[in-house]
Amino acid sequence: METKIIKLDINNVDMDKLRYAAGVIRDGGLVAFPTETVYGLGANGLDGSAVEKIYLAKGRPSDNPLILHVAAMKAAEPLISEIPADAFKLMERFWPGPLTLVLKKSEIIPRAVTAGLDTVAVRIPSHPVALALIREAGVPVAAPSANVSGRPSPTRASHVIEDLYSKVDVIIDCGSSKVGLESTVLDMTVVPPMVLRPGGITISQLNEVIKGIRNDPALEQHQKHILKPKSPGMKYRHYSPKAKMVIIEGDLKKVSDETNRMALEYVQQGRIVGILATEQTRYLYKDGMVISLGDRENPGELAAKLFDALREFDGKQVDVIIAEAVDDWGIGTAVMNRMRKAAGYNIVKV
Ligand code: TXA
Ligand code: MG
Repeated sequence: METKIIKLDINNVDMDKLRYAAGVIRDGGLVAFPTETVYGLGANGLDGSAVEKIYLAKGRPSDNPLILHVAAMKAAEPLISEIPADAFKLMERFWPGPLTLVLKKSEIIPRAVTAGLDTVAVRIPSHPVALALIREAGVPVAAPSANVSGRPSPTRASHVIEDLYSKVDVIIDCGSSKVGLESTVLDMTVVPPMVLRPGGITISQLNEVIKGIRNDPALEQHQKHILKPKSPGMKYRHYSPKAKMVIIEGDLKKVSDETNRMALEYVQQGRIVGILATEQTRYLYKDGMVISLGDRENPGELAAKLFDALREFDGKQVDVIIAEAVDDWGIGTAVMNRMRKAAGYNIVKV
């Protein structure tokens, strides 16, 4: 298939080009587009056969449901059969933004969107191009992250091109994603509501609006496959670089010592080593290719850079990635969730 790449300026969107892309969605095609979290791969969410093309292009298992993206509250209402009062409060506070709510679905949603579940995931993204695209398409847009299934999510158009060129109709190039990690997925069909995937909105932000939100117990597991996750997507191998990855966790001095020791050992074996460091530690490493995710005290920076760094290591043909764990607070919780999955829960405690 021929893929058209459309470059858009976030500050001065060419509406003709945007309307073209919206038309492709309305007519049943696939369009990769920027959101504030990661790039999404969009299709007309009311057209079952268009939605099926998403699974094919990504190589996504058919039992992993998609998020419907809308541009306004009134466009969300027809998709949902029942909106609890607490869900309204969260929508008012966090939409548009990186919060996805799982709610009881209405009858109009094709089976391919929800993978047969009786619930549907919905969000209003805050990226102006995403909003304009959805509005112009005039339909809810079903969109997973625009990567090949299992690979790190794309935070730049170049990542999407790497994974999906010739598999989709249009790729919109509009710079890099601000948040860098996917939205928080919150199940509002259970009491109390449950976080199925940590993401752009933290659990403490959510708890400021409604009390008692808890994490899916499957998220607390830091080892392999003990509990069954409630969000179908969380059970698959995810966010994976091609390299083998290991996380070093503990006191920062011990972490950097162990990282140096391990890096030297791998280098002596003739392996290409990548080290995922932070501004506080990057100068400590002698062997391997070092990428800093940013300032440890600013987990937002780490989140924005993580997937890009994993892909950069792949581009450099790295065999082993040694990653420092970061603090589990704020969006750092989501960073660690993605890192553990990328490493296949291969964690060394020091
Ligand atoms: O930030 C994001 O959420 C990005 C952008 C493009 O919006 N999208 C994204 O989609 O990350 P995806 O498909 O990569 O991840 C959606 C997650 C999956 O873990 C899926 O299993 C879960 O949401 N999900 C979707 N519908 C669900 C439902 N009805 N019940 C439980 N989990 C659901
Ligand atoms: Mg994804």
